Amino acid sequence: MITIDEQKCTLCGECIPICVRRILQKGETSVEIIDPAMCLYCGHCKAICPADAFQFSGGNDQFLPVPSKKEIPSPAVFFRFLRRRRSLRLYQDRLVEKTKLKMLLEAGRYAPTGSNRQACEYVVVSGRKALDEVCTLAIRNLQKQGKELQKVIDEYTRKKTPLPEEWASRQTLPPVWERIAGKWQEGVDQLLHHAPALIIIHMKKSIATTPEIDAAIASTQMVLLAETLGLGTCYIGFLIWAIEDSGELKKTLGIPPENKTLVAFTVGYPKVEFLRFVARNPAKDNWVGEFN
Ligand SMILES: Cc1cc2nc3c(=O)[nH]c(=O)nc-3n(C[C@H](O)[C@H](O)[C@H](O)COP(=O)(O)O)c2cc1C
Ligand code: SF4
Ligand code: SF4
Repeated sequence: MITIDEQKCTLCGECIPICVRRILQKGETSVEIIDPAMCLYCGHCKAICPADAFQFSGGNDQFLPVPSKKEIPSPAVFFRFLRRRRSLRLYQDRLVEKTKLKMLLEAGRYAPTGSNRQACEYVVVSGRKALDEVCTLAIRNLQKQGKELQKVIDEYTRKKTPLPEEWASRQTLPPVWERIAGKWQEGVDQLLHHAPALIIIHMKKSIATTPEIDAAIASTQMVLLAETLGLGTCYIGFLIWAIEDSGELKKTLGIPPENKTLVAFTVGYPKVEFLRFVARNPAKDNWVGEFN
């Protein structure tokens, strides 16, 4: 809940235009919230108030002063930092400190979310014993899904009819999943790359207005912070499919059946160091309006 300390409010009016929901207006002695039910709890009013007149129950202590502009990295430094991130698939055999994993969750927690719903929930798995269990269940499931998918592909091939688009993009997957399963039998982890930790983002989709985007933004902030902590990461899309198809895996990970798994990525200390940036395709772009 938000309240306004009438004694502190100077009626300067700065909070009024910043409110996305336009629910603040000047009253006799202080600003008033005209429709509290519309509030997003975005915190912008308190963050801008020179008199710190707003009180947020459950979170007031997080409104600390922002760092000075001098602390913002230059565009060149920041852009080079963004380009430096690579998907890491070779990890040191070393656990990631819990304090660092907690920092990653904090980076996710402070990410923007559609309508400020903050619906992301996290699972952190650390240590090979727990990860081996996840791998075993996930690989078993992917092998099952691969067999089902192959049956569909074979049926279309037999009938000489082209595969529908949704299946066509997946037709290379059954042999990939078979190979991962075969390697797992030999003790080689080609699913989670022998990483020492794994983070999964899931959520009750009915809470969020933009679930996939929210999880993607949260994870982006997390993997970038990981780089600053000397850690590497790799998104694991196959694991999401396995979790969504396996009630047993969801149970093992403590993900409620009704929640949707949206992102999974491995975390650990790199065994290798990349020397160069990589190439990307030119952006397909379309510029509309005036530019200087
Ligand atoms: C996927 C997504 C969609 C959003 N859509 C809108 C929007 O349509 N209009 C708007 O004013 N803000 C929009 N926002 C901004 C959120 O309301 C905002 O991120 C949230 O209130 C938290 O505030 P902050 O970004 O200042 O931390 C969107 C944010 C996200 C992540
Ligand atoms: S910004 Fe603060 S002091 Fe100014 S009108 Fe709003 S609540 Fe009052
Ligand atoms: S928290 Fe956001 S939506 Fe609510 S009153 Fe303040 S600025 Fe407006």
